[in-house]
Amino acid sequence: MSYLHGYKAEEHERLENQANYLQEAIHETVDFSNRKSLLEIGCGTGAQGRVILEKFSELKYTGIDISTIQINKASKIFESIELKKRTSFKQITQNKFPLENNRFDSAFICWVLEHAKNPTQVIKETHRVLQKNAVLYVTEVYNRSFFLNTITPSILQYWNCYNEYQINNGGNPNIGIELGQILSNCGFKNISTKPLIIHVDKRNKKERFEALEYWRNLLLSAKQNLLTNNLIDQKLLANFKSDYEEIMKNEETIFFYSAIQMKCFK
Ligand SMILES: C[S@@+](CC[C@H](N)C(=O)[O-])C[C@H]1O[C@@H](n2cnc3c(N)ncnc32)[C@H](O)[C@@H]1O
Repeated sequence: MSYLHGYKAEEHERLENQANYLQEAIHETVDFSNRKSLLEIGCGTGAQGRVILEKFSELKYTGIDISTIQINKASKIFESIELKKRTSFKQITQNKFPLENNRFDSAFICWVLEHAKNPTQVIKETHRVLQKNAVLYVTEVYNRSFFLNTITPSILQYWNCYNEYQINNGGNPNIGIELGQILSNCGFKNISTKPLIIHVDKRNKKERFEALEYWRNLLLSAKQNLLTNNLIDQKLLANFKSDYEEIMKNEETIFFYSAIQMKCFK
């Protein structure tokens, strides 16, 4: 089994859209002012890194990821932009960072530990390469918080398969709720939690449309892997798509989801 979302061109586009859609929520209170060296673990195509570098002009950025495909894409994208001078990218093997101790004064992890086979080891490595008093922000999924009042059997089945795939693949779709314990076990201090809540209904139709659209793209990014591994078939996929069209049109649809962001210090 392979990485839930896959590494196709559409996934690069989805990560860019995701970073844009959730930018305000994720980055609102993330503060790297007075920090000089940032490590992003699981940088993907660099979508979050770009937001951070644009906001904090003093920061030098190192992005690491287990995927050569992502690292190559990220390097290529940054090649053509001014921010390139402040960045470097490195491919890593699972859970081992080729970086010396106490090197960075800040770190950022976003939507990564849910895929990691050993998230504690990733956090231990992060702790090792950070300087004393360095700040770390981690943002992760908590899929049990998902609520959709107009859900249908096909959407529910697709959602369950999506989560099952991740668990079968060694990941954890509810890692967000465990972050506090993991960070604390690895020696991080002053840990604080910020829930990132999407709660939309008929009060704001535009926001509801955007949230549902975002969610659909997220779920469909896994479709090829779910099909290949026989967790879903074409019939379920077709039903999921048509039911989803209906819930998007339904006046009464309420959608809720809460991701979890943690801030802590070494
Ligand atoms: C959903 S993407 C998020 C990318 C980026 N953080 C963002 O928000 O745009 C998850 C990334 O984590 C990487 N990844 C998965 N497990 C990892 C691990 N153990 N260490 C480092 N990167 C990992 C994947 O290759 C993928 O690029």
